[in-house]
Amino acid sequence: MSKKTFYITTPIYYPSDKLHIGHSYTTVAADAMARYKRLRGYDVKFLTGTDEHGQKIERIAKQNGINPKEYVDNIVTWIKKLWKLMDISYDTFIRTTDDYHVKSVQKIFKKLYDNGDIYKSTYEGWYCTPCETFFTERQLNDGKCPDCGREVEKIKEESYFFKLSKYQDKLIQHIENNPDFIQPQARQNEMINNFLKPGLEDLCVSRTSFKWGIPVEFDPDHVVYVWVDALSNYITALGYLSDNEEEYKKYWPADVHLVGKEIVRFHTIIWPAILMALGEPLPKKVFGHGWLIIDGGKMSKSKGNVVDPKVLVDRYGSDAVRYFLLREVAFGQDGNFNNEALIQRINSDLANDFGNLLSRTVAMINKYFDGQLPEDKVSTDFDENLKKTVTETISKMEEYMEKLLFSDSLTEIWNLIRRANKYIDETQPWILAKDESKKAELANVLYNLGEVLRIVSILIQPFMPSTSPKVWEQLGIKEGDLTSWDSIKEWGKLPNNISVNKGEILFPRIDLKVELEKLEEAQKKAQEESVAKTGENKDQYISIDDFAKVELKVGEVLKCEKVEKADKLLKSQIKIGNEVRQIVSGIAQYYSPEEMVGKKVIVVCNLKPVKLRGILSEGMILAASDDNGNMVLVSTDKDIESGAKVE
Ligand code: MSP
Repeated sequence: MSKKTFYITTPIYYPSDKLHIGHSYTTVAADAMARYKRLRGYDVKFLTGTDEHGQKIERIAKQNGINPKEYVDNIVTWIKKLWKLMDISYDTFIRTTDDYHVKSVQKIFKKLYDNGDIYKSTYEGWYCTPCETFFTERQLNDGKCPDCGREVEKIKEESYFFKLSKYQDKLIQHIENNPDFIQPQARQNEMINNFLKPGLEDLCVSRTSFKWGIPVEFDPDHVVYVWVDALSNYITALGYLSDNEEEYKKYWPADVHLVGKEIVRFHTIIWPAILMALGEPLPKKVFGHGWLIIDGGKMSKSKGNVVDPKVLVDRYGSDAVRYFLLREVAFGQDGNFNNEALIQRINSDLANDFGNLLSRTVAMINKYFDGQLPEDKVSTDFDENLKKTVTETISKMEEYMEKLLFSDSLTEIWNLIRRANKYIDETQPWILAKDESKKAELANVLYNLGEVLRIVSILIQPFMPSTSPKVWEQLGIKEGDLTSWDSIKEWGKLPNNISVNKGEILFPRIDLKVELEKLEEAQKKAQEESVAKTGENKDQYISIDDFAKVELKVGEVLKCEKVEKADKLLKSQIKIGNEVRQIVSGIAQYYSPEEMVGKKVIVVCNLKPVKLRGILSEGMILAASDDNGNMVLVSTDKDIESGAKVE
């Protein structure tokens, strides 16, 4: 009988030499799942790769004076090295610049066009290049990109459009009929209420203003715009519309697309609609995990708060980092990344609980039996409870893994490890060792500990693949029948007369205070090196001359009113010395017009006047905002005349 298949994917990554621990998070989670399913006997396909086209790459390559392909080639080599370092066991690495992908995407585009799902029209609107996303006027936030807050460009160009709106009802129906399709549940509600029910607009799927993309075969002035190119990777990697569709037939539909929460919308609305239009089945599940947060904000390169996974792996090994990522944060929710928490987990869970259990067990077998257990064994009163915990742990882990609840699975495994440590306290082998007549009882205790360790070494394999073989080496067992999932279903598979080998300490304890300093230093250095290497962030600092170009003055609000049909805007008349200026600002959600009158504010005076909603705005008022959605106006510490310069 042929094996059951399991197809899991990560998003394809934008090529950046600064993939951070947040990116590794998606990949490590997918890897754990792929390894688990292999262990359970599935024929697994684990896909990852890189998303290499688009205006942003074209621009960066140009800035670096190389062609885009050369630029991405270098980075892809680096990304593959990183995945190797982190023990990522992908089966296929797709690059959207791969020939087979390009050909397949061209055929997909043509098929959609021939079926009438793609049509030509004109796109007019706003575009954020860093986010590679189009916005309507309504979606902009104070004229800026609602996602990243940066400047957007007004564009008008001939484009092809995909009839996304046509699929709205079918999508709602599919989501409602398949409660497992979008996970966790909260993301499902968000998609239906925030995006599908308010209505879908047709989607721009080609561009003419840049060249670095897949050309539309029947209209080569156009290149396929990012999402159709990128999302299709999940099926082109299987040979969809190629001469050999064998893998496609075997693995599609995917069992899980694992994605970060900000791209759930693309995967649960655009992607299924494209598949519906192609007449292909939809993926079984899209799981949107949360973000790794640092100091309260999403870790991201543009904020300069990224943690380099290589630094961590070099210092603690990939298994410790993988363990931390999957244990610390409940998969699906946002979670804080924090150096101290990482070191503490290594010390308490890995060194104390797990490492100690192994080293104590091996040391006692060495000390009391010269490294080899005798055949004779007599059970103790504590055995049944230990065995019961083993059975429960296995069945709970099986249940949790189906739901991608990695942290819960690890919690269960560690409960078993702690239970085994408690078993040592209960049976007190050092006392048994003093009494010759208790030797068989002692042998039984140590055997049971060895058997728990064998079982644990199999349970942790998906998460910590390089630790398991080290445990087997110390227990004196070989990979094979004794390390299969089936072998843990029945207690007692560990051979009776094992010969143990004292090995290296699995996870040495770390001096928290000393290490924290060293780690921070190493992280800083890695950041600087990368900046130096890529020249990125070279615009991070401005000179004093740059700053002097901004003319800041104190202004007094004389009059203020709401801007009609604009929820966020207030129009103020502001006295700055002898002149009065009209300024429109996006603060209506935080200040009422009445509150504004009489306030002293800081005004950027030499900003080019613009029209917002048709109303002239001659400057900008400064305000401070945080990630929790708070915004307050900036003012002076003591009262001062309007018109005073701010320097
Ligand atoms: N190229 C697109 C995906 C196209 S899939 C058809 C993309 N790439 S990405 O490189 O920006 O992000 C890849 C993955 O990394 C996403 O799932 C994203 O959510 C994840 N992460 C990036 N930063 C993250 C954190 N700080 N925390 C957790 N995951 C994060 O999006």
